[in-house]
Amino acid sequence: MLNYRNELDKMPSYDGVEKSYRIKVNANESTMNLPPLVEERVINRLALLAFNRYPNEEYYSLVEQIAKNFSVDTSQVLLGSGSSEIIEKVFHAFGGAGHKVVYPQPSFSMYKIYAKAADAEGVPFNLDEKFNLNVDEFIKKIREVNASLAVVCNPNNPTGNALTPAQIEKIAASIECAFLLDEAYVEFYGRSAVNLVKNYSNLIVARTFSKAYGMAGARVGYMIAQPEVTRMINRTFMPYHMNVLTLAAADIVYQMRDEFVPRLQMIIAERKRMSERLKKIRDVEVFPSEANFILIRLARAEELKNYLESLDIGIRYFSPNAFGLKNCLRISIGTRIENDEVFSAIKYFLEGGQ
Ligand SMILES: Cc1ncc(COP(=O)(O)O)c(C=O)c1O
Repeated sequence: MLNYRNELDKMPSYDGVEKSYRIKVNANESTMNLPPLVEERVINRLALLAFNRYPNEEYYSLVEQIAKNFSVDTSQVLLGSGSSEIIEKVFHAFGGAGHKVVYPQPSFSMYKIYAKAADAEGVPFNLDEKFNLNVDEFIKKIREVNASLAVVCNPNNPTGNALTPAQIEKIAASIECAFLLDEAYVEFYGRSAVNLVKNYSNLIVARTFSKAYGMAGARVGYMIAQPEVTRMINRTFMPYHMNVLTLAAADIVYQMRDEFVPRLQMIIAERKRMSERLKKIRDVEVFPSEANFILIRLARAEELKNYLESLDIGIRYFSPNAFGLKNCLRISIGTRIENDEVFSAIKYFLEGGQ
């Protein structure tokens, strides 16, 4: 018999099994590929790559751009294969036997898995029934269990609501342990806490190219923290863990990030339009969102998910065991045409005589 690592077969797995749909609004991706002008520049750049060399130059070119944009030193920026890799390494750096990681629930389901993978103890902290975080109680919990890492996703996935920068600052200022702020959706909110990093040596901000820049397939994320923190977290990475194709593509995308502004504005406007329309449907509870998705609750959630699937529309349904998410569905915001079709199907299912 093969002698696997202890407890490997007990590792919880990520339940977001991916299928393709005609309208795919289940994974908070961008439903649009790169803007044509950006795509053209990326392809031209890829044609010039030195595949035979390790990707040093490409790594530092992107780090320099990000550091310049946030007015931080290049020693404060690390890149990852998606923000997933960043988050995993942060858990690894502050995990280990006897270490505790506190995170709200419901939130990004991977935090629990990363805690386990890092041999740390995950300590979930319950959001209230409207999915608000009681900041004072959260701080109390972090202190009480003597956590080595606290995590907040802002705006929160899958609920969509957000803490204010003042609330984030209060947490950073009130705890002594590391504080990972996952800003995967922050571009749809517009209130990042990166500027707090200079004042708080425990604050680590993780960001991604997967959502606002529509690069989920390329796998690019980054983190910003004080130099001593990045120096330590960097020890957990393999050398050359980012590939040259991804780095070169992300370098162009970041140079051309202004091209994405109209899309961000469109998604924010569509989020508002969808929320308002959904609120008018009987018996649908719509939660406020600052992200590129909306969470709703309704009694016939599972049936509705199945009906939409029969139309080849994929939205996210949560298992009844997922804390606080019973009868909830999460719908990512797509183009106006996609949103109209999703909305009409929901309305027809709930009010159109089904
Ligand atoms: C809150 C949150 N953090 C991090 C990630 C990871 O994204 P990526 O690895 O594509 O950057 C996701 C993906 O859905 C997410 O929802």
